[in-house]
Amino acid sequence: MKKILVTIALSAFVASSIYATDKSKSQDNDHRTMLMKDMRTMLEAMEQIQRGGLYSSTDEMKIGVKKLQGTLKTLESDEVKWILPKDQKYAYQFAQKTASMLHLYSNDMISSIEAGRMDDALEDYSQLLKQCTSCHIRIRNW
Ligand code: HEC
Repeated sequence: MKKILVTIALSAFVASSIYATDKSKSQDNDHRTMLMKDMRTMLEAMEQIQRGGLYSSTDEMKIGVKKLQGTLKTLESDEVKWILPKDQKYAYQFAQKTASMLHLYSNDMISSIEAGRMDDALEDYSQLLKQCTSCHIRIRNW
């Protein structure tokens, strides 16, 4: 009887520790999934800005910029740590820097569009794209 109780207690313990790791793993995945969703939204936003530029639709460009700016909150926050390499202490600072550059150039793009300076808007677009690729390249090299 005693042996059975020990076995039950042990398996309950094992089950609960498995449950605990599963739970934290799935929370990790939730954060990751959310951030990856934002990344895809950023890509959509960039495509929309580009399409707007090619069709000379300043409205579509502006919608794209707003969509991009909507994702920056996550990129600027602690949330981003879920997708950054944990062993790199500069990764988070780097993420914050790129997020603030994305802010800067996207605001500048709105002013350029509103002032009818399409060449400046195009320059802003390439600066935005540079932020995306510079983080992606760095993260892959890390
Ligand atoms: C601070 C770093 C950082 C910045 C800035 C950044 N990304 Fe990412 N992005 C990542 C990381 C990390 C991943 C995941 C890479 C991996 O694990 O494969 C990712 C993945 C992606 C993916 C793949 C998503 C998926 O479903 O797998 C897309 C698309 C993407 N990013 C688009 C963009 C665009 C567009 C921009 C710029 C507007 C951008 N990213 C800026 C870090 C960044």
